[in-house]
Amino acid sequence: MKFHVLTLFPEMVSNGLDTSVIGKAAKRGLIWINAVNIRDYTQDKHGKVDDYTYGGGAGMLLQAQPVFDAFQAVTEGRRVRTIYVTPQGVPFTQKLAGELAAEEELVFLCGHYEGIDERVLEEIVTDYVSIGDYVLTGGELPAMVMIDAISRLVPGVLGNGVSADTESFHNDLLEYPQYSRPEEWHEKRVPQVLLSGDHRAVEAWRLEQAKERTRRIRPDLYEKYRCRNQVIQRLGKEKRDYVHLMEALRRGKGEILFEEGCRPGGRASGEPLALAVFDRSCGTLLLTASDEAEAGKLLSVIPDACALSVASPRFLADILCEKAGFELLHECYQVCYTQNVNLRVGHGDIRILTLEHSGYVAERYGMGSADYVAERIRSGAMYGAFAEDRLVGFIGIHEDGSVGMLYVDPDCRRQGIGAALEAYAINRERERGHIPYAHIIVGNEGSLRLQEKLGLYRARRTICWLAKKACISEKSMLDS
Ligand code: ADE
Repeated sequence: MKFHVLTLFPEMVSNGLDTSVIGKAAKRGLIWINAVNIRDYTQDKHGKVDDYTYGGGAGMLLQAQPVFDAFQAVTEGRRVRTIYVTPQGVPFTQKLAGELAAEEELVFLCGHYEGIDERVLEEIVTDYVSIGDYVLTGGELPAMVMIDAISRLVPGVLGNGVSADTESFHNDLLEYPQYSRPEEWHEKRVPQVLLSGDHRAVEAWRLEQAKERTRRIRPDLYEKYRCRNQVIQRLGKEKRDYVHLMEALRRGKGEILFEEGCRPGGRASGEPLALAVFDRSCGTLLLTASDEAEAGKLLSVIPDACALSVASPRFLADILCEKAGFELLHECYQVCYTQNVNLRVGHGDIRILTLEHSGYVAERYGMGSADYVAERIRSGAMYGAFAEDRLVGFIGIHEDGSVGMLYVDPDCRRQGIGAALEAYAINRERERGHIPYAHIIVGNEGSLRLQEKLGLYRARRTICWLAKKACISEKSMLDS
């Protein structure tokens, strides 16, 4: 991942990010930090980059020309998300860090003096972001804070796949207390349960501690957590229909944009009548409604950044096509695996794929772009079946969390390799604590039979994948 930082103090940024985890990640080529001196681009012969503010007022303003030319030099015409760090921006959160970590390249623009000429901001900035309600002397420290938080989400940077998942703010809870040796220090003993070796009891204790701490220190976050859990529990009563919504929320990927039961005066229990969950990382909006009146309420919450929608039941998809500019891509059966045992994998050589396999997969996977395939492989979300060391088939976990992309070479079919890949992916999902699920395009009876044979249950009703009309050519689509 590349970070370009446009600043008047490039050495402050390069030195600040040169050590510890982030410095190591840069040395290993996982991230690249390009600190660019805006002054190098001024056309003023004395190297000046600032001037007085029209209309009067104290202080100087960074001029448009050097900022614009520095931006042009680093982006070379590419469309790159450009963040102006400013106290006037939206708050920087863990969620926004996750969204930005999905980009390949980012530009940070650091202000100084009284700010930057508005005209250049209008032309180049895509996001205005603040790190808190206080004013610093410049944008370098906020940019470094954001780069640190984003970089640690880039695969491989932490060198320990689990820690990014379990720390503060994952799933809206603060982190539980932790202890190391010795067992007793200053007459304080490590809580007994942590010494018990009972993993379930440890997990339950940690969750309780995290909840208690969040309730006490951040009641605002706790309320979000409570509301989300209430929705998940309700969806869990009809897993087959709602597993996609449940999983988006359980995995901390989805943000609830609308839910009747969690609003003051809303319904406290029963089936969700209208629910909108937005997965910002892939621009996908998950929607469900129990009748047309409820569906109408969802139309006003569709975000501009939404490119795809997963809607059920069918009438809701029809309303979105008619009234919200969507087009039906696929009608699918949703299937999920809810049993408490791993499946038998009937093929010996299944491995996680690496980028050297991206050509093979991209050529054979008909429904997504080569970029999508490379991104899935980079995320460690694709598995391949090998026969005598030759890759003969693959399966993947889509951006939205569903299992899919199944393919087996024609000369290797009817040997159980497809079933083995599917079983393998399901087992890996279970190990991560997920409920495995998939979307099978209506009409693909062979795939549906395979799912049912493996023990996945089919939802009562179909689910529709839709694309915003303007986005259809830009966004790759998903399939099983
Ligand atoms: N520049 C100055 N203060 C800032 C803040 N709080 N957040 C982001 N950028 C800033």
